[in-house]
Amino acid sequence: MVVESINISAGAILRAYKRLKDVAPPTPLQYSAVLSERYNCAVYLKREDLQVVRSYKIRGAYNKISSLDKKTLSKGVVCASAGNHAQGFALSCALLKVNGTVYMPATTTKQKTSQVKMFGRAYVKIELVGDTFDDAYLEAIKDSEQNKKAFIHPFNDVKIIEGQGTVGHEIYQDSPEKPFDYLFIPVGGGGLSAGVGSYFKEVSPSTKLIGLEPWGAPAMKTSIDNGKNTELKTIDKFVDGAAVKKVGDINFEICKEVLDEVRLIPEGKICSTILQLYNEAAIVVEPAGALSIAALDFYKEKIKGKNICCIVSGGNNDITRMAEITERSLLYERLRHYFIIRFPQRAGALREFLTDILGPNDDIFFFEYKKKTSRSAGPAVIGIELKTPDDYDPLIERMNTHQIHYEYLNENDDLFEYLV
Ligand SMILES: Cc1ncc(COP(=O)(O)O)c(C=O)c1O
Repeated sequence: MVVESINISAGAILRAYKRLKDVAPPTPLQYSAVLSERYNCAVYLKREDLQVVRSYKIRGAYNKISSLDKKTLSKGVVCASAGNHAQGFALSCALLKVNGTVYMPATTTKQKTSQVKMFGRAYVKIELVGDTFDDAYLEAIKDSEQNKKAFIHPFNDVKIIEGQGTVGHEIYQDSPEKPFDYLFIPVGGGGLSAGVGSYFKEVSPSTKLIGLEPWGAPAMKTSIDNGKNTELKTIDKFVDGAAVKKVGDINFEICKEVLDEVRLIPEGKICSTILQLYNEAAIVVEPAGALSIAALDFYKEKIKGKNICCIVSGGNNDITRMAEITERSLLYERLRHYFIIRFPQRAGALREFLTDILGPNDDIFFFEYKKKTSRSAGPAVIGIELKTPDDYDPLIERMNTHQIHYEYLNENDDLFEYLV
């Protein structure tokens, strides 16, 4: 799709804001004392995790659906999503009394389908089809074409972008006296960043706009670097809200003009931030919602003494993911290490390993071994947790000194995926 340059004006976003303010009341812009002290600057959090649907996604969906004429609406609307867009869409349908259909992959968890049912009430029907999002997307498009229902795209649509842009208007309106020096915005398909970016470029051009993408799904950064919207072949879907193979064409055209920079944030760092926010501030964020705060460590020199704002875009964290989040965080912080150790198959070999190799604070948290009588050495998979990352080099030194045969697994994707 060729998209001419598009200008989303602050005026259009203000009109969307007026349309939305009673159904998605403004969320707080909160000063964070902990983060401000940690980074020697003034950090404000835009709390979109406190939205009715626990993410900003109601804004775009409502703005789009409410812009359609009666005749179009009478045929119903349709979307494909297993996440926050589905919830924003469902609540918008219920508020506007429009019949909607949400296509989701059959693998979608019950928690997610229940949320959509709760918000959409009798107005929304859920169709579970295929194994992947792409399967659900194709079915949604088919339904939209065959039955002339309006397809509500999660990001590649001017009305969606204007709706998400209202987050920018609220931030600007509630800003402290001095304009923000930096605004950190999570990027998925580019709806939020295109909207908020357009607004800020017009009303506060001195604010530096930083888009944040997950390391494993750098669709916007790749596209901007290539000078054209580029589809990635594979992505890591861990940061589900923000992991897309291809950003929207409209979103790309806008973001390449309005964002000052796009930065990739490692998934492990995002996990550490989720845990930190929970422990320090009792704030529950989902991976995409943690992106903007996770970025601060990478900007700590630049933001010293500045006024900065992070958009906390969503809080729909599935509690069953906490074990994986903790694991990824400990790996990123270099506190957990997996090895295959080849023990000589004789009595006492394990005891020697424990005495000679483990340091006083090293802890075995994973051990898998089966004695095989026909071999002279048996492999064991061992996970060791350290108190500080500095304990790693001495551990390896001791293994080398004692001529332990080992293979390091943390960097071996295949084996590692099997384990974690
Ligand atoms: C919580 C959250 N943050 C960020 C994003 C990325 O959004 P966009 O597609 O508007 O760039 C999403 C998308 O679903 C999301 O749910």
